[in-house]
Amino acid sequence: MITLSLAEIAEVVGGRMHDIPDASAQVTGPVVRDSREAGPGSLFVAFVGERVDGHDFASAVVEAGAAAVLGSRPVGVPAIVVDDVQAALGALARHVVRRLGTTLVALTGSAGKTSTKDLIAQVLRRMAPTVFTPGSMNNEVGLPLTALTATEETKFLVLEMGARGIGHIRYLCELTPPKVGLVLNVGSAHIGEFGGRDQIAQAKGELVEALLPAEEGGTAILNADDALVRAMASRTKAKVILFGESDEADVRAENVRLTDSGQPSFRLHTPSGASDVTMRLYGEHHVSNALAAAAVAHELGMSADEIATALSEAGSLSRWRMEVTERPDGVTVVNDAYNANPESMKAALRALVAMGKGRRTWAVLGKMAELGDEALAEHDAVGRLAVRLNVSKLVAVGGREARWLQLGAYNEGSWGEESVHVSDAQAAVDLLRSELRPGDVVLVKASRSVGLESVASALLETGAEGEVAAR
Ligand SMILES: Nc1ncnc2c1ncn2[C@@H]1O[C@H](COP(=O)(O)OP(=O)(O)OP(=O)(O)O)[C@@H](O)[C@H]1O
Ligand SMILES: [Mg+2]
Repeated sequence: MITLSLAEIAEVVGGRMHDIPDASAQVTGPVVRDSREAGPGSLFVAFVGERVDGHDFASAVVEAGAAAVLGSRPVGVPAIVVDDVQAALGALARHVVRRLGTTLVALTGSAGKTSTKDLIAQVLRRMAPTVFTPGSMNNEVGLPLTALTATEETKFLVLEMGARGIGHIRYLCELTPPKVGLVLNVGSAHIGEFGGRDQIAQAKGELVEALLPAEEGGTAILNADDALVRAMASRTKAKVILFGESDEADVRAENVRLTDSGQPSFRLHTPSGASDVTMRLYGEHHVSNALAAAAVAHELGMSADEIATALSEAGSLSRWRMEVTERPDGVTVVNDAYNANPESMKAALRALVAMGKGRRTWAVLGKMAELGDEALAEHDAVGRLAVRLNVSKLVAVGGREARWLQLGAYNEGSWGEESVHVSDAQAAVDLLRSELRPGDVVLVKASRSVGLESVASALLETGAEGEVAAR
């Protein structure tokens, strides 16, 4: 964060100073909401949560060196007091981002935001210092906190933006106005909350509506392969760059294939040259993510060769997304339990089959949450796809949705033990412990709320007679 005095911060957020002996005292950062992260020169943001009231930690953070608390009531130690802490945090981020003048890249979409954000950061940071969202901190609190970690050295600030309704992205864009706005896809994530795909498109498209006109440097980067995203071109005054596998895309992939280990390889075409990419990440869905990252990097001045090298060397920065681990006994565990939606389920199943060529493949799948009226049809479709792709064994874990999944597989023609339903994660672990054989490949995937990563970690413990080698 840049250095600001308490008086400056109070002015920016429209707050009142309480118990502050020296208004010229400097906040050097970081700005934190977790009291354990407060240190010398930091600003502690006190939120009143359902179970915890941040104000209760005011004395502790000041003892740890924090310059002040930003909160909604006086706390007996230096504090800037406002009516709305979230709005104040947003105003501070907006002020700092404006002053810094870094190039701000924002991205949204139904699936792949974090994976793509991690790719963009790994490509751009080869060119200049880059700050990016840690993990998935993409909401009205995480986004400003991330923006506030930028410093004078930061050339690129890459921010993931999430939405659970209309107006959310617009709000985030007001806090941190992007120069480059990328929309990945409009899928079914959170469709229950939004009410339908068109509403999701409406909400995600707020990103390109917020961009500056082309003459002032605004650039919208849109997925040419997704009709609802492609159509957002008419909602922006920014320059439009298309990425995808379609011929009309400015940044394209040709000769896309999965290697025998399930890693995508393709020829990257940009308006200024072409180069070959073989990724370290697993699953064909990363091609789209990589093209999106390439389009951003090309727009910001990198050559096709530089981008291709960076994409080929990029690793996974966030946990439980197609995390591939070899057990000493030759069983491969693919932990993709971070989250699931219909698109990512299908991509993960395809990756499983590619990396499991000639081996037994297991898909241990649970519910995809928040699908509203489409829940039955989507679970049915995933079960059917597992059979069509010839996955050797399907283990559907959990309640009603898992039954639909297994029934889809059954109706598509799986028989006997090829597809089974188990009631919970422990039952899945018990089954796998007794059935897995050396050489098998196991994919574990469900929505975040199911917590299937416990299955993946139990499987890794089981096989860990020696060191577990992570690829
Ligand atoms: N382009 C894509 N299309 C479909 N699925 C994808 C794509 N990219 C990643 N995924 C899968 O979607 C899941 C979520 O990925 P990721 O965390 O990158 O998405 P996200 O949009 O950041 O999710 P969240 O909304 O939880 O922040 C993972 O299981 C991943 O394998
Ligand atoms: Mg995310």
